[in-house]
Amino acid sequence: MRKTAQSEYPIHELILERWSPRAFADKPVPQNVLRSIFEAARWAPSSNNEQPWAYLVATKDDKENFEKMLSVLVEFNANWAKSAPVLAIAVSQLAFAKNNAPNRNAQYDTGAASLLLSMEATANGLFVHQMAGFDPEKARQVFGIPAGWDAIAALAIGYAGNPDSLPQPLKDREMAPRTRKPIAEFVMAGHWGHTAPFVTK
Ligand SMILES: Cc1cc2nc3c(=O)[nH]c(=O)nc-3n(C[C@H](O)[C@H](O)[C@H](O)COP(=O)(O)O)c2cc1C
Repeated sequence: MRKTAQSEYPIHELILERWSPRAFADKPVPQNVLRSIFEAARWAPSSNNEQPWAYLVATKDDKENFEKMLSVLVEFNANWAKSAPVLAIAVSQLAFAKNNAPNRNAQYDTGAASLLLSMEATANGLFVHQMAGFDPEKARQVFGIPAGWDAIAALAIGYAGNPDSLPQPLKDREMAPRTRKPIAEFVMAGHWGHTAPFVTK
């Protein structure tokens, strides 16, 4: 299923076509595609080139690991994410490795890596649905995430499935048009709240 963004201005097709499905097809992701997806994350920019991210990944064929992933999701997310062939958790290192000073951009950089991963997935015909709805402390316990690293987001990765497979309320959300604030609301210049002039031209 496609949910092409109705952009106000022209943007790249990959950005138009990325969206976050809750229905996934029962189709495994080839290992070479998975390698490319995480290779894309590798090339994200980061503060001081620290690359403060790590991903815990479970494919559905690895039942034990996949169940561990599902166990850390909130029930709402586990109910639909169980249909994805791949689940992952993005983890951030909160301090710089060289001097242990706090890295206030660690989560930002991890988000950048996850978005690049999502775009590479889109380019390969897959979709990524990120989730804040999981228990980071349970993830720490279940996967042995060390001190100094925090679980930031969970990700469901796979091919988009049939919305009919979802319960009605989720099906409605799956079919609903994608909406966004206009750029005039968040692109400012000179002073907070002043829309940048190029936006209104
Ligand atoms: C950091 C983050 C956390 C999110 N958490 C959840 C979540 O817990 N459950 C869920 O169903 N969707 C979650 N989403 C998906 C958003 O709701 C979705 O990206 C947003 O509605 C825009 O839709 P689109 O990605 O299809 O354009 C999350 C997305 C991000 C980036």
